Amino acid sequence: MNTPRELISAQEIESKLAEMGKAITDDYRGKDLLMVGILKGAFIVMADLARHVDLPVEFDFMAVSSYGSATKTSGVVRIIKDLDQEVAGRHILIVEDIIDSGLTIHYLMKNLSVRQPASIELAALLIKDGIERPPLPVRYEGFHIPPEFVIGYGLDYAEKYRNLPYIGVMDD
Ligand code: IMP
Ligand code: MG
Repeated sequence: MNTPRELISAQEIESKLAEMGKAITDDYRGKDLLMVGILKGAFIVMADLARHVDLPVEFDFMAVSSYGSATKTSGVVRIIKDLDQEVAGRHILIVEDIIDSGLTIHYLMKNLSVRQPASIELAALLIKDGIERPPLPVRYEGFHIPPEFVIGYGLDYAEKYRNLPYIGVMDD
């Protein structure tokens, strides 16, 4: 296996997450915040972002799978694991690793809105540019990247590379 080319360093990610965490801390002070990570990809972003949120926040996770090949989403989302907690009346912040077609998040925001949370916002570490997608309100965004397939920091290629400490691209 080739070594991936580094696109965003561990240090750049860390300082971006610190900024995002500070903004979240300011915005949700005094509110009942539930951070919802989308598994599996968001597990690392969630852990590192959350440590920059200086509030008595609670956590939950959803696992979804989109039918499709290793590198393309089909838009059909299946909920593998739903939330453990009721969200009615609570402030939800969805935490995602990457927004590509936006179809997963579009589906999830619709699905969660029906449960009548007090608010629902979105944090994403990466947003792919140059992709046609439904308009998505990303309240806290990390980096815009070119429309390449990236790995690391939670993102996989066929379930591998999630533990790379940086965002990389395979060049072959
Ligand atoms: P979307 O529904 O197309 O926005 O993408 C949904 C999911 O596809 C993301 O949460 C990732 O798990 C995965 N994904 C999208 N782009 C990439 C990528 O470049 N590398 C690894 N996984 C990706
Ligand atoms: Mg994936």
